[in-house]
Amino acid sequence: MSREERREKDKDLFETVEEVFDTRTVLNVVELMRRKVIKRLAGTISAGKESRIYLGYTYDDKPVAVKIYLTSSAEFKKGILKYIAGDPRFEGFSPRNTRELIYAWARKEFRNLTRMYEAGVRVPKPLGLYNNVLVMEFIGEDRHRYPLLVEAYEELEPEELEIVYNKILEEIEKIVCKARLVHGDLSEYNIMVTPDLDVVIIDVSQAVDVNHPNALDLLKRDLERIEEFFRDKIGLNNTRDSKEVLEGLMKCLEKRKGE
Ligand SMILES: Nc1ncnc2c1ncn2[C@@H]1O[C@H](COP(=O)(O)OP(=O)(O)O)[C@@H](O)[C@H]1O
Ligand SMILES: [Mg+2]
Repeated sequence: MSREERREKDKDLFETVEEVFDTRTVLNVVELMRRKVIKRLAGTISAGKESRIYLGYTYDDKPVAVKIYLTSSAEFKKGILKYIAGDPRFEGFSPRNTRELIYAWARKEFRNLTRMYEAGVRVPKPLGLYNNVLVMEFIGEDRHRYPLLVEAYEELEPEELEIVYNKILEEIEKIVCKARLVHGDLSEYNIMVTPDLDVVIIDVSQAVDVNHPNALDLLKRDLERIEEFFRDKIGLNNTRDSKEVLEGLMKCLEKRKGE
C-alpha cells in the first residue's frame, strides 16, 4: 500500500469514528489495528445508546463485529456498578473515573463471551479487546447480519419456532450449567437466528456468575421473558413452564456444588 493510500485509509477511519468518538477511542481502534486484530472498519451495524457495533475486517479479510462502548449517562453508570459489585472477578475494583468503569464493562463482556464460548455456548467467538473496543466473530454473511429473533419470528413456521425455542433452552442450560453464568438480559432482542435455524446468544456484558447475589432473580427473569415471548406473543403451544425449567437448572447447579 502506498503512503497516499494509507493516508486515505486513515482518513476514512477517522471520518467513520471521529464524529461519535473521542480521540482516545479512535486511538484504541488504531491500537487493535497495530496489533493486527483488525485491518479496517467498514460501516455501522448498530448504533445503541451505550455502544455501537461496526463491521470490520481482519488481515485475512474475514468480517468481524467491533463493539465500541461509549462513555455515557449517569444512569448507565449506576446500572453497571450494580453488576460489577458482587462479581468475584471484580473484587477490590474501584474505578477512579467513568472511563475506567466503561473499560471494566467491556472487559466483563469479553470475559463472559470467552467463558461461554469455551463452555460450548453458541456466542460470537471473542477475538480481541483493547480498552473499550471489543472484536468478535461477525454473525451474518455478505456484510449483512443475521436477524434478531424479534425480526425473524414472523417469517417462521410453528415447527421452526419450536426448533428455535428448544435450541434457546439448550443454550440457557449450557450457560448456567457449563459456563456457570446467568445471561441477565436474555430476550428476543439479544438472540440472533441463522438461516439454518441455529440461535446465537449476544450482548453478554451484564452476565453474572451463578454465585452473584442477583443471579437467581436474573435467571428467573430471563426464563420468564423467553416463556412470555414464545407462549404469549407468538402463541406457541409446546412451551415449558419457566418454573419447571428453573427447577431443572437448579438441579445441575446443586450437583456441581456437592461434587
Ligand atoms: N457479533 C455480531 N455479529 C453481527 N451483528 C451483531 C453482533 N453483535 C451484535 N450485533 C448487532 O448489533 C446489535 C447491538 O448489539 P448488542 O450487543 O445487543 O448491544 P446493545 O444492545 O447493548 O446495543 C444487535 O442487536 C445485533 O443486531
Ligand atoms: Mg442488545
